[in-house]
Amino acid sequence: MKINIVLNLIILLLITGNSFSQAPKFDYGLSTYKKGNCMGCHKWHGDGGPGYGGAALSLRETGLDREQLITIIACGRPGTNMPFFDKKAYKDDRCFGMKFSDFEGDDKNRPLQAKSYLNNRQIEAVVDFIINDLQGQKVSKDYCLKFFGKPTRSCEGL
Ligand code: HEC
Repeated sequence: MKINIVLNLIILLLITGNSFSQAPKFDYGLSTYKKGNCMGCHKWHGDGGPGYGGAALSLRETGLDREQLITIIACGRPGTNMPFFDKKAYKDDRCFGMKFSDFEGDDKNRPLQAKSYLNNRQIEAVVDFIINDLQGQKVSKDYCLKFFGKPTRSCEGL
């Protein structure tokens, strides 16, 4: 008898267990934005701006669609400071049909490698983050708090 009650309790806990852990929503896309150090150039607010070696464009004002966003993050933009995040970029023909060898003697346009690679799942997550939280939107206090995870000076006055 007692064992049955205990077993039932365990089963109940297993079934409902997940609904107890409603911690603040973890955003895989935002965490990828940080992992890729996108804010190193596009800043925490995503509006970009002047920085080392040229201005990073605003991800809030970008007109690119989902596919184009995936491509530029995977392949970067040769000739600019936007690096590529796909480990296999320019090793096969996945990026504009071009390989590193096509840039030989053309140092100015040689694609720049990101400091850390992102896999496909991460690239899609960061693209969803751009579409959902940045594109076409103004910097808001909610966004700021989400980005930093706590109130900071950057969020004051927003
Ligand atoms: C080393 C600096 C640097 C880093 C790091 C970087 N970017 Fe960029 N990014 C740039 C620059 C510079 C441009 C503008 C390229 C140009 O002039 O066309 C750009 C352009 C872009 C664009 C194209 C915008 C448009 O409208 O054409 C997207 C999207 C983008 N970056 C997303 C990202 C994401 C997401 C990350 C992180 C995973 C990232 N970038 C990391 C420098 C950087």
